[in-house]
Amino acid sequence: MTSDDRTAKDRQLDAARVDKRDSVLTTDQGIPVDDTDNSLKAGERGPTIMDDFHFREKVTHFDHERIPERVVHARGSGAYGYFEPYDDSLATLTKARFLTTPGLRTPVFVRFSTVAGSRGSADTVRDVRGFATKFYTEEGNYDLVGNNMPVFFIQDGVKFPDFVHAVKPEPDNEIPQASSAHDTLWDFVQLQPETTHMMMWLMSDRALPRSFRMMQGFGVHTFRLVNEEGVGTFVKFHWTPKLGKRSLVWDETQKIAGKDPDFNRRDLWESIEMGAYPEWELGVQLVPEEDEFAFDFDLLDATKIIPEERVPLRPVGRLVLNRNPDNFFAETEQVAFHLANVVPGIDFTNDPLLQGRLFSYLDTQLIRLGGPNFPQIPVNRPIAAVHNYHRDAYHQMRIDKGEAAYHPNSLDGGGPTPADGAGYQHYQEKVDGWKIKKRSESFADHYGQATLFWNSMSDWEREHIVAAFRFELGKVKARHVQEGVVRNLNEVDHDLAVLVAEGIGVEPPGAPSRPNHGRSSPALSMDHEPADTI
Ligand code: HEM
Repeated sequence: MTSDDRTAKDRQLDAARVDKRDSVLTTDQGIPVDDTDNSLKAGERGPTIMDDFHFREKVTHFDHERIPERVVHARGSGAYGYFEPYDDSLATLTKARFLTTPGLRTPVFVRFSTVAGSRGSADTVRDVRGFATKFYTEEGNYDLVGNNMPVFFIQDGVKFPDFVHAVKPEPDNEIPQASSAHDTLWDFVQLQPETTHMMMWLMSDRALPRSFRMMQGFGVHTFRLVNEEGVGTFVKFHWTPKLGKRSLVWDETQKIAGKDPDFNRRDLWESIEMGAYPEWELGVQLVPEEDEFAFDFDLLDATKIIPEERVPLRPVGRLVLNRNPDNFFAETEQVAFHLANVVPGIDFTNDPLLQGRLFSYLDTQLIRLGGPNFPQIPVNRPIAAVHNYHRDAYHQMRIDKGEAAYHPNSLDGGGPTPADGAGYQHYQEKVDGWKIKKRSESFADHYGQATLFWNSMSDWEREHIVAAFRFELGKVKARHVQEGVVRNLNEVDHDLAVLVAEGIGVEPPGAPSRPNHGRSSPALSMDHEPADTI
């Protein structure tokens, strides 16, 4: 990266960067330390004594080094870069200037992650990958917190703790680490048919990306663009890698996990160090509000895609990652993405999974990053000015001047005043209904798009999917769980269910409750059956 490429975020980060070369060792109080290899003792062979403030500070700081890892997506890798729109073609649909000002380079930080494993787990596991982007826009931070698959396991955020408990290592023995061969996962899956579509993606090669640089990203939910007139347009966000989509095959993932558990992390780091900057194109699918009910699924259902044949992808701009962080913990570990970080021109919808996320991220970051001042951590700081009446709390780094920390006030020459029409305005949507713990019937079809996905696969892709189901589900000890999954798969495609059942020694199912409307499966050779490596 040349000095010309430095973004406003880079310049802001300079204030936090410390160059340690050729410096004298000091305590945190700046007192030069004479000897850091020997503690202060009463006699050469005597006990260490309390006077040794350097010993106590050094060990205390070490003792407190760990913070909680993320409750999900604990293992990740990040990089800085920029986003640049191609043109102003979205200007009639959104006020968001970073999407509509040609040539405007908005600094970004992107973090890729696996979901289930802990911070030290291997990269090449069968899992969803996170693809989270923080845009440091001139109007504040916008976070697009997505995954590398366009749908999700569940439809309502209230199920997320159950789902994650089923995915994570089991509570009694913490087995298995980062694996889909898991009784509890498959039990949840068989009991919650809404997981079926996503499980098809998870058993496909999409769950084994060759590189973060060769991976798609999706905002998953339907969001809303809002223009100057307050008119909304539904939108789905897509990232498409310039290098194309590439996956590993199962056998490779197993060997790489043993030989280089940092395979994806290393690949991202090294390509950026070498100047082979990864790029993605941002595309949008747009649906006018009046077409909200034009589909045979609900736009608010995160287990569904909008088929691109129905709503083509429209290119918007490009994302380039061109700088590695200086310090993994300070930046990649402490970055805090949140779906609720939106800028004028982008808003939410009533998707109940999205709504659940609006609560969860800030809540978890309050504990993970030690209280409400984490937006002041350098990687999280907006480049836009921040002024408000928040005060105090742990790790306060700002020195807000003046005596009045309330609004309105007539002292101190008046403090920050609301933008009065020029600030973020929530999309005005009429909501009229009973408080009700129920899901709309429009969320009820859990199999149709799973069938579409299966039908869109080539024969070799199908072989990989069948092999993955056989391998992962074959490890499950509870027979009734295996049978339950096969029953769900039978509603996706009868041939698929029979192939899986035969592979794991379960009674093949009878006719599905509805005819599977796909092309019939050719006899798969199953040459790609993975070796049972466990
Ligand atoms: C973290 C994506 C659903 C709660 C993350 C991260 C990503 C992500 C990419 C990692 C962020 C990072 O790199 O720091 C998604 C997607 C979802 C989804 C695409 C569905 C479409 C949910 C739901 C909840 C949830 C439904 C809760 C109701 C969390 C939490 C974290 C997280 C608590 C950890 C955040 C942190 O500690 O900073 N998610 N997630 N997610 N997600 Fe989600």
